[in-house]
Amino acid sequence: MRILIYNQKGGVGKTTTAINLSAALAVEAQETTVVDLDPQMHLTAAIAGTGASGTGSAADWISGKPVQPRPVAGTPGLWLVPGDGDALVGRFDDTRFLQPSAGWTIMDAPPGWSATLGQIASLSDLVICPLEPDFLGLNGLNQLLRRMSEVGFDRDRLRILIARYSNRLAVHREVRGKLIDRFGSDIVLPVVIRSSVRLAEAPGLGQTIFDYAPRSTGASDYAQLARTLISQRSLARSNGRPRT
Ligand SMILES: Nc1ncnc2c1ncn2[C@@H]1O[C@H](COP(=O)(O)OP(=O)(O)O)[C@@H](O)[C@H]1O
Ligand SMILES: [Mg+2]
Repeated sequence: MRILIYNQKGGVGKTTTAINLSAALAVEAQETTVVDLDPQMHLTAAIAGTGASGTGSAADWISGKPVQPRPVAGTPGLWLVPGDGDALVGRFDDTRFLQPSAGWTIMDAPPGWSATLGQIASLSDLVICPLEPDFLGLNGLNQLLRRMSEVGFDRDRLRILIARYSNRLAVHREVRGKLIDRFGSDIVLPVVIRSSVRLAEAPGLGQTIFDYAPRSTGASDYAQLARTLISQRSLARSNGRPRT
């Protein structure tokens, strides 16, 4: 199961989602590899204490070279393919994508858009788009949908993840309602990631939310997101629609 975490807008919670969804899947005993495709390498920096064993980077991974992901300290079952300056600049070799994958591969996309990102999106099982539910967030979504349709990405594989959500904000409640009206509850994920200071603090200590604040709303929201995706995947399999 390959999931690209994408939104062309920065600061919407892509990296936070890639780290904590991956950790949550590993906590649920799912073998998970997280790949840092962003040249800013925030994800790689945020998972500190990574074991030295392992070889290769996201650029090697993209170009189909052999890569040995590094175990992430403190989270058994979670592996990291670290970023480097130019993962999406080189040639994209789709061989790795065309092979069935047993576990979960979560890819943290940079902001912006590129042809390689388009290829990766079109070969991914799901593209999860974290979005702060305000009017700028809605606006960016139209652009995202246009790009996705240009690369032949079928909308059934898009998932909108409402992130940095605050129930006290009328605009958040309103935009969430509009998103569900427009896209339906299959595309808008039923789990909402609430705004939580703990989620913003954890990367500074090199920890996932499950190490840093396991009882926080952030930990509970990402755990629920992982369980939702696991159950949707089993449902798709039992309906005979597996892509992996
Ligand atoms: N649910 C949340 N609650 C509070 N802060 C968040 C949340 N999600 C992300 N952040 C913070 O917002 C900033 C941008 O998040 P990040 O995941 O780096 O976004 P992106 O990868 O889309 O640029 C970071 O400082 C991060 O800690
Ligand atoms: Mg990021």
